[in-house]
Amino acid sequence: MDLRNDSPTRFLLPAEAYRDPAWLEREQRALFDHTWHLVAAVDELTEPGSYVEAAAGRSPLIVVRGSDGVIRAFHNFCRHRGMAVVCAAGRTSSTLRCPYHGWEYGADDGALVRVPQRAGQFADVETERWGLVPASVGIWGGLVFAHPDDDAEPFDAFLGEWPQHIGSFRPERLTQLARVRIEGSFNWKLFVENHIDVLHLWYLHDRTLADFDHPRFQHRNLGGHWVSYEPLKGGEVAEAAITRGTTPIAHLAERDRTGIGAHMLFPNVLMASSSEFWISYAVSPLTPDRSVIDLRVRAEPGADAAELVAAARSFIDEDVFACEQVQAVLAAPRFEVGPLAAEHERPITTFHQHLLAVLEAGTVPEAGAVPA
Ligand code: FES
Ligand SMILES: [Fe+2]
Repeated sequence: MDLRNDSPTRFLLPAEAYRDPAWLEREQRALFDHTWHLVAAVDELTEPGSYVEAAAGRSPLIVVRGSDGVIRAFHNFCRHRGMAVVCAAGRTSSTLRCPYHGWEYGADDGALVRVPQRAGQFADVETERWGLVPASVGIWGGLVFAHPDDDAEPFDAFLGEWPQHIGSFRPERLTQLARVRIEGSFNWKLFVENHIDVLHLWYLHDRTLADFDHPRFQHRNLGGHWVSYEPLKGGEVAEAAITRGTTPIAHLAERDRTGIGAHMLFPNVLMASSSEFWISYAVSPLTPDRSVIDLRVRAEPGADAAELVAAARSFIDEDVFACEQVQAVLAAPRFEVGPLAAEHERPITTFHQHLLAVLEAGTVPEAGAVPA
């Protein structure tokens, strides 16, 4: 299922795209302010009234499970003067109370239900106008996604056919065992490009991913999204060596017990799978040259979380190292990007095409759309 495309692979973005605050501002406005973000796991919101603080790009959010069991999201700013209504995870019986001046909002609908000193100080305030601003929520694989817009494109349309191309994995049947925040000095796009770069598997990961058969690496773009699979060398029937045998995922078919996958939801939700884990690691910009990776590890309950995190970090830390090195060189006056591998770096060209289409059109294309 290699992607075949007659256009040459090319690196389409200029160096400013990785360094310039104005470029990041364009990305925030055209892309991150209007796309789906991975913001939580269902595991973090098990009880009615449980909530977490999260972020969809630069939009701070409250993600809350209502008394009816439905998970919703609201922008996490008080409609009075902007205080964050919640600042950590927690659980409420019915309302979310702003700590600054005590305005209270319904946890099920965000409605403003209490204004202290209302009669004397806020006599004319129409409370129905000042509820929390709603955001959109989508759930897949035990993961909670949110979109800053209340009238977002449907989450299923965003996913497109992507969920049908990840083999036998059903991440919703697993449990989130660990979450790790990793900061690095690189532009967020370098980390995405690294993730979809097939060529570096042979070299940067020559120790950590040595057991996998890179010539048989299969990958495919689904619009801006991306899926891949590669088997263990020699077709050994063994736990994929990347996680050194803690607790295999029970529901996997043979293909997925003897191989690994790397996937992406455009623009920044990266995922990887082995016989023992499903990890997500969304990468988000902090500044043009600094990013944060939100690593979540899903596995069978009772699996060795520390071992699984160490396995994931074994290759992620190599990727971070490479991205930081490249970022540092982008300012060098004599540097320019050279030729890309015809097939093994083609997903980088496709990623750039999609990003440029968003920045030029000001909207995110549907999953199936392939820009010219
Ligand atoms: S800012 Fe929230 S009550 Fe004043
Ligand atoms: Fe890598």
